[in-house]
Order: sequence, then structure tokens, then C-alpha cells
Amino acid sequence: MQPHYDVIVVGAGVIGCSIAYHLAKGGKSVLVLEKGSIAGKASKAAAGMLGAQTELEEDSPLFQLAKGSRAMFPELAADLKNLTGIDIGYEQNGIYKVARTEAQAERFKSLVQAQQLLGEESHWISADELQTREPALIKEVYGAMFIPNDGQVSAPEMTKALAQAAVTLGATIKEYTEVHRFVKEDGELKGVETSAGLFSADDVVVAGGAWSEQLLKEMGVELETFPVKGECFSVKTCNRLITGTVFSDDCYIVPKAGGRLIIGATERPGSFEETVTVEGIARLMEAATRTLPALRDAVWETAWAGIRPQTKDALPYLGVHPEFKHLFMATGHYRNGILLAPITGTLMADLIDGKEIEPSWRSAFHVNRSVLKA
Ligand code: FAD
Ligand code: GLY
Repeated sequence: MQPHYDVIVVGAGVIGCSIAYHLAKGGKSVLVLEKGSIAGKASKAAAGMLGAQTELEEDSPLFQLAKGSRAMFPELAADLKNLTGIDIGYEQNGIYKVARTEAQAERFKSLVQAQQLLGEESHWISADELQTREPALIKEVYGAMFIPNDGQVSAPEMTKALAQAAVTLGATIKEYTEVHRFVKEDGELKGVETSAGLFSADDVVVAGGAWSEQLLKEMGVELETFPVKGECFSVKTCNRLITGTVFSDDCYIVPKAGGRLIIGATERPGSFEETVTVEGIARLMEAATRTLPALRDAVWETAWAGIRPQTKDALPYLGVHPEFKHLFMATGHYRNGILLAPITGTLMADLIDGKEIEPSWRSAFHVNRSVLKA
């Protein structure tokens, strides 16, 4: 007979692993069930940017959630290093949002002002100053918005570190174990049926990324999520060509340790295909070498694709099933799952513990909001 757990987490991506880590830290017995391998899907594909102000820009519950999560990284990185020995590559190296047109420059200048009014650090950098700071970039730009507090991590290392830390704190992770359906008795959720048999728990959290909705359909949940495929590639250079991450409307370039650079990413809504295409990589190469000409001398490393979990209203689902009070969901983190993982872990652990969470987050990310809105 299988042991009974406090919580079963479905999916060992960054979201499932962060939830498992925070639950285990709070003393819960946790089982994580993963149909493939730990960090095998979107969480392996991510460039690892922590772009709270770069990707989200304006004040909203999601912006606040992202800022709260970004603030958790220094302590989390240190805790994960202590618990697992894994360095997640946390760096607060800043992100430049480069303006390629006058219209973009005007928009970024007003965004800088709006973010400063919110009390955030955000600066307009002239083209000359950008050249002084990042001499490898092309000169023909209109300047850049610089966000010093945005940073980066290694997404696969962070996911593996969260998984390993959860195990160190007592969690069990079963890879190559697919959850097929939910087990209910007398209208109550009792556990899950998997490719490796039945497992029971008090609570179940679905953190299956872009595949969550398929699993949840039998529970009457229509999450309105869809996949957004993204392709990336990486190269190596002898020296670090740029200090900050360079983000423009057609690509981003993320400098990693040891002269490695990640260049991303394409966006193909509706596709679950994890294939790398010549068209996708050629487009990224063209855009990246236009921004950073020295990239032409870089040595090719590899290319990959991943599937972002997006929602119709572009907000994640972080909440509990309206009827089955022991079924929780955490998905739809789209382009920012690495950034949002720490706070998603604490928020979901609090929800499962029956603790109060920030009311604006409860209503913004409620599972049933599309139904409630109708
Ligand atoms: P996933 O990592 O996809 O994990 C879900 C897991 O659930 C998978 O391992 C899957 O096998 C498992 N699963 C699903 N169904 C079942 C089932 N029935 N039974 C068992 N297991 C199941 N975010 C950032 O913050 N910064 C970035 O720079 C960034 N860059 C990105 C670049 C690219 C190219 C892509 C594709 C994404 C990027 N993202 C970035 C977004 C980020 O990767 C995602 O938001 C995040 O990884 C989602 O995590 P997840 O755990 O929800 O999903
Ligand atoms: N956040 C970067 C991406 O999703 O491509």
C-alpha cells in the first residue's frame, strides 16, 4: 500500500518544485508526480530573466506579484545553495530595454516616469551613455530604459535546486509517472490515478504548465489556457560581450557566466510542438547580430524550444477549485514563470494552509474568474 501524503503536486517544473519546496519547508509531507523528468519542459527552456519591470511595465496585481517574487531571489538563492550546493546563477545585472525607433524612445521615457512615480528604480539612458556602458552594442539606437533591479538566474538549475531542496526537506519526487485522472469518493477528492498506480493525499495541486487544462477538464474546470511555443539558442564567446541583459522588440540577449549568451525567443501561440525551426533561429540570429554585431564571431552552442503556459486574460491561475476544496491549481505563468516561482510557492502553500493571502491577488488570480466575470 502507498503511503498517504498531505499534498500531491502534479508537475516538476519550476512552479511545482517551488510549491513542493515551500510546503516541505512548512512541515508537510509532499509527493511530486512528474510524467517526464524534473525541469524537462518550459522550465528547462527559459532564459532565466527576472524581468518584473521589463516584462510587466505597469502597475497591476501581477506587477506587484512579480516585484514581490523578484525580492525573494537573494535569500532563496542562498538557501538553495546551503541546502543543495547548487548555484542557481542569481545575478542582479539589470536589463536594458533598447529603443529602436523614436516612438519606442518616447514610450520608454514615459514608462520610466510612471515606474519612478511607483517608487521603482528605472532610468532613461541616452544612446551615447548606452555606448559607454555597453560598447559592443550597435550605435544606431535611440537610447534605452535601464532597470537595475531586474536580473537573472539559470532556469534549469533553479528548478533542479528547488526539487532537490524539497527532497532534502522530506518530499518525494516520482519522475516518469503521469497523472491520468483524479480519484473521488462521495464527492470528495481523495488522490490521483497514475501510470504507476493510485496515490492518496489530503490536497492535490496541479502545476502541469501548459498541460494543466487537459488534466483538469474532468473536474469541470475550463481554465482558458493555451500554449505559446518559444525557440531560443545559445552561443559562447571568449569574453562577456555585455554586462546587462539586452531586451528589444525582436529578441533578447542574456549574458550568462563564462561568456555564454542565451538569445530568445520566438512566440508561436497555439503550438505544443517542441521543435526547433530554421525560420525561428534564423529570425533570432538576424535580430541579435543586428543589435550586437560581435555575436557573428561567437561559437554556436545549441538551440531548443519550450511551451509557455498562457491564459486568455494573461494572468496566472493561482487558487482553489470552486467545488472541490482540496484541489488547487497554479498555472498560466506565460513568459514569467521563473520570476514568479518563489512567490507562487509561498502563496500556494499559504492557500493550502488556509491562511489569508493578499486580497487583490486572491481575486485577480482566482481559478473561476472567467466564470465569475460572465
Ligand atoms: P513546466 O516547466 O512546463 O512544467 C510543467 C510540468 O508538468 C512538466 O514537467 C510536465 O511534464 C508536467 N506535467 C504536465 N501534465 C502532467 C501530468 N498529467 N502528470 C504528471 N506531470 C505532468 N520565464 C521567466 O520568468 N523568465 C524568462 O526569461 C523566461 N524565458 C522563457 C523562454 C522560453 C523560450 C520559454 C518557452 C519560456 C520562458 N519563460 C521565462 C517562461 C517559463 O519558462 C514558464 O512560465 C515556466 O517554466 C512555467 O513553469 P511550469 O512549472 O508551470 O511549467
Ligand atoms: N520571458 C521571456 C520569454 O518568455 O521568452
